[in-house]
Amino acid sequence: MNTPDKTDVLADKEPKSGSALDRVLVLEMVRVTEAAAVAAAQLVGRGDEKAADAAAVEAMRRAFDTLYMDGTVVIGEGERDEAPMLYIGEKVGGAPGKGPKIDIALDPLEGTTITAKAGPNALAVLAAAEEGCLLNAPDVYMDKLAVGPGYPEGVIDLAKSPSENVKAVAAAKGVEPSQIIVCVLDRPRHADLIAELRGLGCGVVLIGDGDVAGVIAVTDEDTTIDMYMGQGGAPEGVLAAAALRCVGGQFNGRLVFRNDDERARAGKWGIDDLDRIYKLQDLAKGDCIFAATGVTEGSLLDGVKKRRKPTGETIMTTDSVVMRASSGTVRWVRGEHKIG
Ligand code: FBP
Repeated sequence: MNTPDKTDVLADKEPKSGSALDRVLVLEMVRVTEAAAVAAAQLVGRGDEKAADAAAVEAMRRAFDTLYMDGTVVIGEGERDEAPMLYIGEKVGGAPGKGPKIDIALDPLEGTTITAKAGPNALAVLAAAEEGCLLNAPDVYMDKLAVGPGYPEGVIDLAKSPSENVKAVAAAKGVEPSQIIVCVLDRPRHADLIAELRGLGCGVVLIGDGDVAGVIAVTDEDTTIDMYMGQGGAPEGVLAAAALRCVGGQFNGRLVFRNDDERARAGKWGIDDLDRIYKLQDLAKGDCIFAATGVTEGSLLDGVKKRRKPTGETIMTTDSVVMRASSGTVRWVRGEHKIG
């Protein structure tokens, strides 16, 4: 018996439109983040960050093979010699050489510590764009500044101080600076920033981890968070920027190099202006997709839940979002996955 070629099996998924980011592909990206979230969810609260991350990575890697695309990981689990799977440059997708060429930025488990401790806001997340449209960010820190939609372009500026930015956002919103709520990663390196914000009377929402969700929170009025500030991972900055490209808002990011080794690595990534302030279009340009599934309960998405149905079946429920920049469409996807 002839075993069908994987790309033949996927042929009915071949995009019919001219865009590499076909509509079918947009929806199917959710299957990839769902798979990673379900796998990681089995390890929530088990105190083992590495095992949770490995489960998410393996599941995401497998799920990519079901998509009709010729994908390349541009932001992943690390460089080839440090990550066994989903490393930068790895080809993913079920139609290598045939399908649309897509660049992928991914974090199968954004919030490994959160997952290990069963804290809030762990996500399985990815962004996809046409080849060459996502910044190949090195794994260094990034200074981040974000605000939600509806403000005049340029209201935030990373070249200015935190106080100046808060005052500009407060003026645009028509409130006192003390009414502005800012989300910041709870880290010793942010002590001065937090003191400055509290000096203005701002509310400071400190998060333990997970700044992709932290940045996206500025786009959701229910969170009451107006701004995001502080240093987190640069790869997470590109992922958050892709989400803001889809739902609106402004973002400034500047890479932070702590030593000569990190500065040297920037060159490898083709980054010569080390002080450049990146805006949304510099991080994720053209059409792009952002997809995320909640692993643990969060402000953006519910976590994975295991349920036993009256029929005796056990299911996992997932809560996901998938967005597309060109259309501005945001889809909330609730999944039920039979596991026994
Ligand atoms: P992990 O999923 O790799 O644990 O990252 C979690 C995270 O909080 C990111 O959201 C954030 O960008 C980064 O870590 C901050 O790094 P650090 O923990 O070194 O301050």
